[in-house]
Formats: sequence, structure tokens, C-alpha cells
Amino acid sequence: MKPKVKTPLPGPMAQALTERAERVLSPSYIRPYPFVPARGQGVFLEDVDGNVFLDFMAGIAVNTTGYAHPKVLEAVRSQAERFAHVCFSDFTHEPTLSLAERLVKRLGGRYRVFFGNSGTEGIEAAIKLVRHHTGRPYLLAFTGAFHGRSLGALSLTASKSAYRKGFSPLLPGVVHVPFPNPFRPPLGARPEEVGEAVLDHLEHLFRTTLPPEEVAAFFLEPIQGEGGYVLPPKGFLPKLKDLLERHGILLVADEVQSGAGRTGLFFALEHEGIEADVYVLAKGLASGYPLSALLFREELGSWHPGAHGTTFGGQAVAAAAAHATLDLLEGGLMENAARVGAYLLEELRKMQRRFPFLGDVRGRGLMIGVDFGSPEEERPDLRDKAVERAFQKGLLLLAAGPSALRIAPPLTLTEKEAALGLEILEAVFQSL
Ligand SMILES: Cc1ncc(COP(=O)(O)O)c(C=O)c1O
Repeated sequence: MKPKVKTPLPGPMAQALTERAERVLSPSYIRPYPFVPARGQGVFLEDVDGNVFLDFMAGIAVNTTGYAHPKVLEAVRSQAERFAHVCFSDFTHEPTLSLAERLVKRLGGRYRVFFGNSGTEGIEAAIKLVRHHTGRPYLLAFTGAFHGRSLGALSLTASKSAYRKGFSPLLPGVVHVPFPNPFRPPLGARPEEVGEAVLDHLEHLFRTTLPPEEVAAFFLEPIQGEGGYVLPPKGFLPKLKDLLERHGILLVADEVQSGAGRTGLFFALEHEGIEADVYVLAKGLASGYPLSALLFREELGSWHPGAHGTTFGGQAVAAAAAHATLDLLEGGLMENAARVGAYLLEELRKMQRRFPFLGDVRGRGLMIGVDFGSPEEERPDLRDKAVERAFQKGLLLLAAGPSALRIAPPLTLTEKEAALGLEILEAVFQSL
């Protein structure tokens, strides 16, 4: 298959649906461009007018196994024929129980699992867990972080003030620390010293304002997602973990976007050689079926019965889809993400030399950010044009952070398909 579009887009059907949406849907929905899907196959999506797009966004980093993967279809169908839902908060059942066992095994045992439906729910549960267990009121998070939009999760989110505007007061006791972004370093630091500068800042906070023994946990994304696909400097996270451990502060790894194999390893934190006390998985875990998993160290299991629960969390069809997703991830998709991701990264870095407005190309596996502008100047205007022009040429992309393109295709992407995307990106960059 190849991308094939009749421009200008949107076509007549997509236009009609877009107009209907404007009349009935909440004004809070953001529509970066008028794409209206009809069906998908592999890494391609066809819209309601028969245009075919190559998908480099995977439903916002969700569709791990691409569209209509036969193994996922079979798992979903066979579970749906048995039963879709019997509340897992009240009754144990397969396949959700064996999914919990499988996830715990991945972490080498000694963890427990709570299932929800979304990343936000996983984070919300994590907030309740760490407060309940430690009895400490404060929570730490990074600026640039995205942890969700319910009031607790939103209190941690700091990627855009627009997400928070109008909703205060939020959860008290949340303190944000600048993220060590090597491309646009905070705290007046040079790129090579940004990690140390952030750690010094945190120690200064602990000495002057924030008693560390009152901090329950630090919530962080091993690679910031909505904040712009930004990696911290190598070695920063292990040092941060040491510092937190010294004060008995728990580390919560929000792997909602980076987890489930997207970076080439199951958890992005594995690249750093450290473990978190708590992990949250969602997006890619069940290939598009709503499911999140909160994984926490056994010692943190002080929740009393009824301390947390959910009607739909751990729904059986979503769990079956997660089993099929894990089978495929373990059967080669993670290696594929690492290999094809490395190829994309290398080719994009070559493009960076030809297009000086591409300030930074970074990423791991199939979680790649292309940042427009320079350390001093963000160029959201060019980034937004690139997203729109890519759409007109049959490539689906999304923005991330102030000025980055997010490249997050299904992990089934082949090198040949990646090359098709690169061809379109080359034409888009040339047109800017
Ligand atoms: C890192 C991270 N955490 C949490 C969330 C919230 O997840 P959801 O939208 O499934 O509630 C997201 C969503 O983009 C995310 O990227």
C-alpha cells in the first residue's frame, strides 16, 4: 500500500462530517486537521473519501500493532463471544488476571496491579496510592510534563497553561521542577550541565521550601511526551532516583506514552538501568482498546479493600487485546521499533543538515521528536505548517510541545514504509 490522496483535503464526505462535528461536539476538542477515518490496515488509514494515509501518529501513540492486526482481532472476537464485562473490581476473571501476572513477571515479580481505562485514571490511582501509603502530602513533577486532565492528574500536568486555565484551585501540594531539556536548557544552564543544574535546584528546594520528608513521590515521564518528545540527559534519571531514595520519596514512572515497547524496550526506564516504585501504562498496552495498568511495588500495597475501584477498569476484551499486543511485542515488535526507529532517526538527522530550521532531532525507538527553530527561538508556525502539509500529502502527524513534530507510528512499521514517510517529510520540509 502507498499513501494516495486527492487534494485539496478535506474531501466532500470529510467536510460534511467536520461540519456536523462543529454543531454537536464539545468545543474543547482540538482538531489539528480535518481527517475523518473510515478504516485502517497495518500502518495505513483510509478516510471517508477513499484517501489513503500513512499513519505516523498511531491514534496518539496508541495503535502498537497497527490497524486490524489479525491476532488482535482474533483475541477480541474470541473474548467478546465469551463475555465482555464482569466488573473486575468485584470479581476475578481471565484474561485480566493472567494479564496482571504477565505484567508483574515482566518486572521480575514483587509488584501488584490495578487496572483502569485510561492513562489519566492510572495516574489518578497512583496519586491516591502514594499519598495513602506514605501519609505525605507533597507531590513533585516536571514542567513540560503531561499526566492527564482529571483534577488530580491535571495538577501534575504542566506542558501548557491552557490545560490548567480556569480550573484552579487544583490539588494542593504539587510542586513543579524544571525539566532538564538539553535542547532548551532551563535555569540558565549549558546543555551539558542541565542535569546537574536541575538536581541542584531540587536540593535547594529541599533545603529552603519543601521538606523532603513530606514529599510522597516524584511523577515523571522517562521521555516527555506531550511536552515535546524530550529526553533527559543520559545518566540524569539514575542520579535523580538516588536523591529521591535518600529522602524516602517514591518514583512514579508515567509510561503511558513511552511504555509498551514504543522505545524498543518494554519500559522506557529500562534504557536508564533503573526501576520505578510505581509504573503507569496505558496508550499502547491494548492496541487501541481502553486499558491502563498501575503497577506498584508489593510493599506499597497498604490500600484497604475499597480504597480504590472502577466499573470498567480491566475489562475483559481490552485485556484480551493486551495479551495479543504483548504476544506481538515479545514476538519481535520491540526489536522492530528499535531498528526502524534507529533508521528513521538517522535519516531525519541527515535531513536536519539540509534544513537548518530543524533545530533538534531526538528520540528512542519509534518515539521521535523533530523540533523546529533553535534553542533561542521556538518555531511553532513552521511546525504547524509541516503538520498541515504532511496531511495534504498523505502523512498523518501530530504536534508535541511548543515546536516539535511527534513521530509515533505503529510499531509494525517496516523500513520500506518508514522510507515512504521520509519521502513525504522531505517534500514537506522543502516546501517550508
Ligand atoms: C505521559 C502521559 N500520561 C498520561 C496521559 C493521559 O492519558 P489518557 O489520555 O489516556 O487519559 C497521557 C496522554 O497523552 C500521556 O501522554
